[in-house]
Amino acid sequence: MYNLYDMIFKRKSFRRFDDFLSLSIEELQKIEQRLNKLLPLLADVKIRYRIVKREETTCKRGEYCLLVYSDQKENHLLNVGYILEQLDLWMASQNIGVCWYGMGKSDKLKHDGLDYVIMLAFGKGRPEEFRKDYTKAKRKELEIIWVGQHIPNVTNVVRYAPSACNSQPWRVVFENQCIRIFRSTEVRSIFPTEKLLLYNRIDMGIFLCFMEIALRHEQYEFKRLLCEEQSSNEKQIEIAQYIID
Ligand SMILES: Cc1cc2nc3c(=O)[nH]c(=O)nc-3n(C[C@H](O)[C@H](O)[C@H](O)COP(=O)(O)O)c2cc1C
Repeated sequence: MYNLYDMIFKRKSFRRFDDFLSLSIEELQKIEQRLNKLLPLLADVKIRYRIVKREETTCKRGEYCLLVYSDQKENHLLNVGYILEQLDLWMASQNIGVCWYGMGKSDKLKHDGLDYVIMLAFGKGRPEEFRKDYTKAKRKELEIIWVGQHIPNVTNVVRYAPSACNSQPWRVVFENQCIRIFRSTEVRSIFPTEKLLLYNRIDMGIFLCFMEIALRHEQYEFKRLLCEEQSSNEKQIEIAQYIID
């Protein structure tokens, strides 16, 4: 997971796929193998995958879709985001374009007793189709998402995490060697509230993945604490803390 740092700058959401390119059997096998190597955030939450042809879903892009199924336990959506973002980044290293695809509908809502959560559309891309200048990717100003001292090569990197509708629900407060990570509840998007909450929880898992890759890259050791989400009317809900040495 931690050697994926450079892919943070290369990945992007692929929306146009060249129909003349396709993944080989070997590449598909490599993806299957990779799925077994992804690190979970929560070891006791079951997660399963199906790779199907895009035509078997409502998705309009990519050659294949990866359908994600999970146990519905505490923080399971955080777990989904954290795990599958590792795949998104790894796929960029293999010149496979990916798009998290919340809007897509799966043909099958249950698999191995687990519930369908989300899909990722993917297909072969050309190296030159990946992101060339990450600073041109649209993101919120740092002042909005980060309060307290900045961490060089971390603060300015984690903000490039992908999120549903680019809603970037993450907010960070860094104080006393503790990075506190919150989910903003004041995010607006075209999705209905219920859906947005689901996607934003996945977004937060993606953000934790970026945070850990960036911290490790800068040689920080850390201890991660996950918070139990309380239902409340707060504008920001605490998701996790990283205590750094
Ligand atoms: C949970 C999630 C759901 C998403 N759903 C869709 C979608 O349904 N359709 C789409 O075109 N992009 C979707 N995206 C991609 C985002 O729009 C994209 O990540 C964001 O605009 C940032 O752009 P970038 O990924 O190119 O950096 C989704 C992303 C995430 C993380």
